Parts: sequence; structure tokens; C-alpha cells
Amino acid sequence: MINGGRRLVGAVDISGAKNAALAIIPATVLAEGKCRIENIPDIRDVRLMMDIIRHLGASVKQVNRNTYEIDTTYIASETVPDAMARKMRASYYFIGALLGRAGKAEVAMPGGCNFGVRPIDQHIKGFEALGARVRTENAVIKATTRELLGGAVYFDLVSVGATINVMLAAVKAKGLTIIENAAKEPHIVDLANFLNLMGADVRGAGTDVIKIRGVDSMHGCDYSIIPDQIEAGTYMVAAAATGGDVLIRNVIPKHLDSISAKLVESGVQIEEFDDSVRVTANGRLLKCNIKTMPHPGFPTDMQPQFAAMLSIAEGTSIISEGIWDNRFRYVEQLLRMGASIQVEGKAAIIEGVPQLKGAPVRADDLRAGAAMVIAGLVASGTTTIEDIHLIERGYENILGKLTALGADISRIQDDDDTPARVIPMVSSL
Ligand code: EPU
Repeated sequence: MINGGRRLVGAVDISGAKNAALAIIPATVLAEGKCRIENIPDIRDVRLMMDIIRHLGASVKQVNRNTYEIDTTYIASETVPDAMARKMRASYYFIGALLGRAGKAEVAMPGGCNFGVRPIDQHIKGFEALGARVRTENAVIKATTRELLGGAVYFDLVSVGATINVMLAAVKAKGLTIIENAAKEPHIVDLANFLNLMGADVRGAGTDVIKIRGVDSMHGCDYSIIPDQIEAGTYMVAAAATGGDVLIRNVIPKHLDSISAKLVESGVQIEEFDDSVRVTANGRLLKCNIKTMPHPGFPTDMQPQFAAMLSIAEGTSIISEGIWDNRFRYVEQLLRMGASIQVEGKAAIIEGVPQLKGAPVRADDLRAGAAMVIAGLVASGTTTIEDIHLIERGYENILGKLTALGADISRIQDDDDTPARVIPMVSSL
């Protein structure tokens, strides 16, 4: 429940990157040893990932809130069952990691946010190029190989997931793998750095050609995950939309360039420091047009949050979605709050209104949920958001962080529909 209308003021610390952690945790399977990983965000998807890796036989020790030791010396299974796989998208990274480790993987079809059809043909094409045999039986992806051999992989489109999955298998394949048309997101680079610390030979991550020379064995290492670009961007937009003044700490400002550029276009002031950015906004924001694209373009995972902000900006903004077929389902919820938005195919035309009004709304998915939070923060009156477990898949301690910035936000009901009650917030655990 959010009582809107308060400016966000103060400082917020950004957690480790969800989508880097969700690639790096499965990658530990390749180590056959102990990895100590810091800055792992304390979010639902990470906990699910740890359940899977434990199920495979690894030993997982949580050293503190954000540090884990994962020992994969002993792996007892190459199977990720349906009940675990379907809870998240990234469960399919165990196909690449287990192929690399054991030459065999059986992973049930992954779940994840619903943006329309989410094919995995490019992952399969990549595994096959390395000599694996892949088939799907009863919604289980079964991959096997006698020996992985380096090969040439040319992706038909830029896919974060396929790039990661093929990297995970290729580090242990015999010979050279060349991935062309690779994704360039910061978490691809983070994964490559992690794999190299474990003894892999990966070059070119962050460009569209990645070259991987396979190695016979890998080992454990110590690592710290990069800050979450999307969590940072979400707080930047929340600060801007509420006319606030917030220092966003523990970020890599370069990763935020495409987000900062659009905020500046909307009239927001951004000051960059070494590892923080200050966001200040005064008066009504201005319209801006956005087209989502693979990195270094504007990230699709920031478009719902911008839509919430632009709903109250002056003028008409157009958001074009360039990655997913169906990522505007949340618009219906913003309309309930008085926004004026028309969706035409993969574009949303947003006519800025002076004010949103609080209403009961739903988190359709993770980032859509973040957009509802931002809308609730700027709206007059009270907004209640249902299905907040989807938000907690990717945002560590979001209530605590927003409360510390001055938001009036509380959890009023548990996921399991126990009677409504206000659970007091602890800002840092
Ligand atoms: N695609 C194919 N075939 C494939 C793979 C992808 O056609 O084999 C298409 C997809 O349908 C989509 C496009 O390629 O149209 C890009 O998909 P990509 O594979 O890059 O996305 P993903 O790996 O499934 C990750 C993030 C998403 C984020 C996208 C795009 C994770 C766990 N998920 O998904 O993050 O939206 O990249 O940047 O890393 C989120 O964090 O909220 C989230 C949804």
C-alpha cells in the first residue's frame, strides 16, 4: 500500500545485478570447487537458483546477506525438475553449465515473465553447433554430447540468454568457439570475467564477437557481482517522477548512460560521480520518446518504469518496444490510475496528464510491478498493489529502501492471503 505524493529524498544503495547473479550461480557448476561470491542480491530469484544448485548436489553456505560460498566439487544430478525450472527463466542456464560439466543436462521448460512467446531456438542452435544433441520431450529439454567441440555460432538475433548459455557450454568445449552477433549487456561481461577467474579463456565479451578457447578444467574463485543497472534505473526514475533529490550509490555510471540520457531529455538533472549518481528534479517533467533495444540501446527492462513517469509528464511521449512482442500489459493498470495511454502494436502513445490517482492495481510482472510502485508514489491518495511477490523476484528490500527515502509504503498482506495486517518495515537486515 502506498500513500502517494511524497518526494523521495536521501541516498539509496544499489544491490548486485540480478541478471548477472542468475548467470554466475549456474556457472559455478563448471568450477568443480568452491566459489565465494559477494554482492549477490537478496531476492526471490536468487533463492530459487540456490535451491536448484543445492538440488544438483552442490553445497551452499550463506556467509552473510549478500555473500555465498558455493562448492560444486560434488554434483550428483544433471536434472532440474519442472517444479524448480518453471519458477524462473534463468533455470535454463543449467543446460549450458551441465553440458560443460557433465556432457548431459535435462532441464524442464523455464518460466519467467510473460511477454508473449519466448522461444529458445537460438540456445539450441548454439548447443548443436558445439556438437550436442538437443531434443524436447514432455516439456523437458534434454541435451547430451559425447564431447563438446568448439564451433562457429551465428545468432539470428541478439539474445542475452542464448549468449550466456552458449558461453557456459563453450568454456569446456575442445577448441575455439566463436559467437557472432552476441549480446553486449554488462552482465555478459560480468559472466565472462567470472568464467576467466575460474580458469576459462573468454575474450571479446561486451562486443558482438566473443571468442572462447575451451579448457580442460576450471576451479573455484572469489568474485563480486556488478551493481544492478535496472534497480539503479528504477530508483532514478522514482526520484525523478516524485520531483525528488536522491543519491544512487554503488553503481557504475557508464552502465546507466542510456537511462540518464532519457531522464535529462525529460528535464531531470543528473550529476555523475565515480560510483554514484545524483538525480534531482523540479517542476513538471517533459515528454520524451523511447525505443528499447539491445545494449547499449535503451533497456526494455526500464520501459514500464518510464511509462509510469511519462504518464504525468508534459506532452505526448511514444515508447516503442523493440525486444518483446507483448510488454504493455501493465498499461491497463496505469489507465485505472487515470493515465492516458494508447497501445498500438509494439508502441505506446502516452498523453501526459497532470496527476495520477491512487487505485487498486496489480503487478503483471517484475518491471511492470516496479512501474506500479512509481505510479503509486506520484499518485494522489492510496494505491494498493497485488502480486508483489513478482516485484520481490528482482528488487532487494524495496520497501525498506523506499521508506528510507521518505516514501509512505507498507506491506499489508502476505502472499498466502492471510488476513490484512501491517508488517513493520526493517530498513536493513
Ligand atoms: N529470442 C528468440 N530465440 C531465442 C532467444 C530469444 O527468438 O532462442 C528472442 C526473444 O523472444 C526476444 C529477444 O530474442 O524477442 C531477446 O530475448 P533475450 O534472449 O535477450 O532475453 P532473455 O535472455 O530471455 C533477458 C533478461 C530479461 C530482459 C532480456 C532483454 C534474464 C534472466 N532475463 O531475458 O530480463 O528483458 O534479457 O534484455 O537475464 C527482467 O529482468 O525483468 C527481465 C525480463
